[in-house]
Amino acid sequence: MTVKDIFETMDYGAAPEAAGDALAWITDQGARFGCFIDGAFAAPGETFETKSPATGEVLAEITQATQADVDAAVNAARRAQGKWARLGGKGRARYLYALARLLQKHARLLAVLETMDNGKPIREARDIDVPLAQRHFYHHAGMAQLMDAELPGREALGVCGQIIPWNFPLLMLAWKVAPALAMGNTVVLKPAEWTSLTALCFADLCRQAGLPKGVVNIVTGDGAVGEMIVASDVDKIAFTGSTEVGRKIRAATAGRGIPLTLELGGKSPYIVFEDADIDSAVEGLVDAIWFNGGQVCCAGSRLLVQEGISEAFHTKLRARMDKLRIGNPLDKSIDVGAIVDPEQKNRIAALVDASDGVIHRAACAVPDGCYYPPTLITGLSTASPLMQEEVFGPVLVSTTFRTPAEAAEVANNTRYGLAASVWSENINTALDVAPKLAAGVVWVNGTNMFDAAAPFGGVRESGFGREGGWEGLQAYTKPVAKPKALKPVAALKGEDAEPQPVDRTAKLYIGGKQARPDGGYARNIFDKRGRLIGQAPIANRKDVRNAVEAARAAKGWAGASAHNRAQILYYIAENLAARADEFAARIDLTTGGSKGAAEVEAAISRLFTYGAWADKFDGRVAQAPMRGLAVALREPCGVIAALCPDAFPLLGLVSCMAPAIAMGNRTVLVASEPFPLVATDFYQVLETSDVPAGVVNILTGAASELAPTLASHVDIEAVWSFCGADVAQTIEAGAAGNLKRTWTERTARDWMGDVGEGREFLEAATEVKTVWVPYGA
Ligand code: NAI
Repeated sequence: MTVKDIFETMDYGAAPEAAGDALAWITDQGARFGCFIDGAFAAPGETFETKSPATGEVLAEITQATQADVDAAVNAARRAQGKWARLGGKGRARYLYALARLLQKHARLLAVLETMDNGKPIREARDIDVPLAQRHFYHHAGMAQLMDAELPGREALGVCGQIIPWNFPLLMLAWKVAPALAMGNTVVLKPAEWTSLTALCFADLCRQAGLPKGVVNIVTGDGAVGEMIVASDVDKIAFTGSTEVGRKIRAATAGRGIPLTLELGGKSPYIVFEDADIDSAVEGLVDAIWFNGGQVCCAGSRLLVQEGISEAFHTKLRARMDKLRIGNPLDKSIDVGAIVDPEQKNRIAALVDASDGVIHRAACAVPDGCYYPPTLITGLSTASPLMQEEVFGPVLVSTTFRTPAEAAEVANNTRYGLAASVWSENINTALDVAPKLAAGVVWVNGTNMFDAAAPFGGVRESGFGREGGWEGLQAYTKPVAKPKALKPVAALKGEDAEPQPVDRTAKLYIGGKQARPDGGYARNIFDKRGRLIGQAPIANRKDVRNAVEAARAAKGWAGASAHNRAQILYYIAENLAARADEFAARIDLTTGGSKGAAEVEAAISRLFTYGAWADKFDGRVAQAPMRGLAVALREPCGVIAALCPDAFPLLGLVSCMAPAIAMGNRTVLVASEPFPLVATDFYQVLETSDVPAGVVNILTGAASELAPTLASHVDIEAVWSFCGADVAQTIEAGAAGNLKRTWTERTARDWMGDVGEGREFLEAATEVKTVWVPYGA
């Protein structure tokens, strides 16, 4: 081609990045990789090929780890953990810093390896994946340094099992490994089977950094190896991948008493208002859906355009996508690379081919092989599979809306809730819609922005837990405490001879009203001398459903001002104080104890505590290294169901209710099973304290019988349980359905003490929403 030819077409020339160093690194390692266990590469076992999706060439052989490999890795991590934790935050910071430096030093090698193994454009691997991974290690080196001073009373969980996907192999490793190590954990990590190379290269860097052996272990292989990790003796599982596998992991870990974080799929809306800067919004869309070929969990894969500009916007969009360059990902001027594997390409093609929408494929030349053209689909109904299902490819679906209210409604019409983008030049419009979106991350006039300091994660079926920032560290620490066994608390016994008619029993409290139990059944309640002191209703599934419905209907509570919520908590405290003696006597009578007065006093104080917290548990502004702020806000979860502790019939109920309503949630509370009558008295206090109907609903009955209904109810966002291991198991297994958040405690808590209240409860009662706003731009 001559210069004249070039001027005639104005085509880009090829600008390939050299693959030599990366290939040499693979050859140096023997091109057959064993797992990295206890500080060394084990001999390769049975292997499978890892291929470059762009060329189909075999890059290396990777070991399919066996059960023995997983066991060896977990054991090595276990042996290393105590010493690693005792090194102290400042000691560990040096290693994390060394890893960050090594990632920086080998940036080019890692970027090229990533591109060859995954098919993503080198421009992205070089400018996004690798720099963000480095930044994650630098940031968390700092977190390790500050841990002892800033996180007093917190310690490492132990050994963390971590399973990651193929779309950002090195970056997802960094998101998992850096916070875990910083907080004193050791890890067993499994990369995705299609993309193991950068994880193995990272293992090599761990050796170079002199990381103590066993602190990082990498086991390779497919989902079966993932299952082995999940089943192994680890203290935590962190997973990023599909919602389907996330659900399986939730079910598999149910009842094990180990924390779990899930970062799952999405179908994130990209909302463009009429007053948006259209050219910027079109350009943003290129990053939202064609970044990494759309193989991004938070890809802006659902375009919502305001009706008035729809035609003009789509015309510009089609023109822009026709100009995208798709091809050899090692070419520095390529926009869209290869799809990670032919299997994934076939999956994308099948989903698109089954669609009845109007399909526009980019007019750009698409090379043969594992490539899929940028695609836009219009004319779909909201219920169409492509509007609802994650494609995980360069496929954008599009629809329109008329008003901001409709934009939020359409945006939220999905089971997912990972991210959302809002485009408008009017700050009022953008910041009015942002809080209405069910998403863990909202980008205003931007998209796909990430930073180590800014929490990332989803709501709904996009998973739970956050990665990044102070909020992300929570997933890798626990309070320093010696757990005490939870002793069963039995109801007092007596003569069942004198059953009373049901209508003389206490009632349930649903929607601000006293309600008879649906089944009409009640249980006799006795004092310690065996005398009948009353009857408590036995709630059933129908009562649970009614309570949840009432709670859902009380959604205005989330919008009440924090000051207003505080006032109501103080009012409840005041009204309880006015009846303190009566409650103390009732507690003593029903429990057969003598500490009723102290329990009432503690409950009043607890209400004051959360009245105090209601307007103080604020978010945080993360200063990401770009012209914007990431504002991490605390939002209520929605409806929280709590199975309250048995031992403290008043204080236990208040300890669950108060933080939840202080943060704007509505609650369904299951009262102490052995001593329910105190709770049925307590609703009289609520009735006189201006608590809006439906904000607090109280059920009595058997925790084990109500737990399955609560756990599987799709309109409950979170379930807490303080009723021991069996109920915890039921809750966690049932929660796999809609992946609701669970907080299940199986050990005893000192409810009268400081640990009966505070941040731990407030954190459980809130979701973090990270809103990225332009600032100084
Ligand atoms: P996947 O969820 O099956 O794989 C993610 C990781 O989990 C891999 O390391 C895999 O080996 C492992 N894994 C698979 N089955 C497992 C099990 N039963 N127990 C433990 N670990 C297991 O995702 P896959 O099959 O690679 O992709 C399928 C779809 O999932 C994609 O098309 C996309 O829709 C979605 N996906 C979403 C991701 C996200 O970041 N949200 C990432 C990857 C995939």
